Amino acid sequence: MLYRAHLLSPEAPARLKEFADGGLLVDEAGVIAGAGPFEVLRAAHPDAEVTDLRPHWILPGLIDLHSHLPQFECVALDGLELLPWLETHIFPAESRFRDADEASRAARDYFRSQLALGTTTSVVYLTVHQEAADRAFREAERCGIRGVLGKVMMDRHSPESLLEDTGTSLAQSEELCRTWHGRDGGRLAYAFTPRFAPVCSRELMAGLARAAERHGAYIQTHISESVGEIERVRELFPEAADYTAVYAAAGMLGPRTLLGHGIHLSPSERDRIREAGATVVHCPRSNEFIKSGIMPLRRWLSEGLSVGLATDVGGGPKLDMWGEMAAACNASKTRWAQQRLQALRLDGVEGLDDALRGRLARALDLEPDAPVTPVEAFHLATLHGARALGQEARIGSLDPGKEADFVVVDPRRVDPAAARAEAPAGEVLSRLVYRSDPAMVRATYVRGRLCHALD
Ligand code: GUN
Ligand code: ZN
Repeated sequence: MLYRAHLLSPEAPARLKEFADGGLLVDEAGVIAGAGPFEVLRAAHPDAEVTDLRPHWILPGLIDLHSHLPQFECVALDGLELLPWLETHIFPAESRFRDADEASRAARDYFRSQLALGTTTSVVYLTVHQEAADRAFREAERCGIRGVLGKVMMDRHSPESLLEDTGTSLAQSEELCRTWHGRDGGRLAYAFTPRFAPVCSRELMAGLARAAERHGAYIQTHISESVGEIERVRELFPEAADYTAVYAAAGMLGPRTLLGHGIHLSPSERDRIREAGATVVHCPRSNEFIKSGIMPLRRWLSEGLSVGLATDVGGGPKLDMWGEMAAACNASKTRWAQQRLQALRLDGVEGLDDALRGRLARALDLEPDAPVTPVEAFHLATLHGARALGQEARIGSLDPGKEADFVVVDPRRVDPAAARAEAPAGEVLSRLVYRSDPAMVRATYVRGRLCHALD
């Protein structure tokens, strides 16, 4: 099939690639056989069936690197910080997944919602329940979404309804991994999913790290999200120099490790995470909602840390990655403005010599970090997400040879100047990000298969 539309794809962190009257040739196996000017592709493939999508645009499908499927129905309950929020809202909601039929229904709704918003790859935490996890995989298999899923593991300091025996948690997780990891030509994959250090024993973490290594599977967990959580880790693991050292000691840090949040990581922790090749997953709306803090995104990108992007539903209140891109840009603007304001205040303090002034500016982190742009956020939500999964040869852009995961959008839905002739790509992307509307997503394809259509 040869799709005709305006093609827009990431090429580098701050560079887009576009074909205004473009063609995307998708073969029978759902692989991109060509991407370029429509007329060139049509001349080279005169027999290809053409689907004319103009005036819509084609973008690569979005990659949500971290969210919690069982938390969808209790999103947006405001007021608490991380640990009490988990106890009050999240653990009771997750306990309901002991009912596997309920889990199937929730999974079906969840993946449908993601596809309808243009998300083609979903990296998901489930609950501790093995049967519910198996059902979620089956729903992902059926609906066509690309998924990295994992049964949550928690074997201490947890409510009775979610507490697991260490051996059972490891055995059930490994069984799910054996069944699902690599299924359907790699469309589905398994992530060993220890919730976070405060609810995991050393034995559990070391065991799952070995199992993940044996199977070439992913590991996902949370790190350094809130100050209260970091304090809890310090109490529970007095032998560890810091939070990162807890996971490193268990052997959990590697190139297939996704660390949710990490907004308070020290320079030395960031060095170790970068050297291990692991990814920190930024979830700006969740950080805002649970009052966790603001990630210094620009700083960390410039250090060469791998940072992905995700919704973290239910910490984040919404499933769309468009709004998450906007939130990443806006959070970095807030940080930049705060740094500038504080620097001005410090300038106004009299009686400081230059050396002391410089020390204070460094301690207060006042060197302004330039805000992140929508083009950069788009790169995080597509090509860099693919890289974080070790799958950039397969997904993340519209380049030939990759699997055809793409989204068809109508930019007119978010353009207040309805009569405007087509705007430049950077402007169009900026409006899709800052003014996103579910109705702009016309269709979503995974590996060439139509998984969602608006009409
Ligand atoms: N840390 C441990 N569990 C969770 C969770 O479910 N959500 C968030 N945001 N942080 C966590
Ligand atoms: Zn999370």
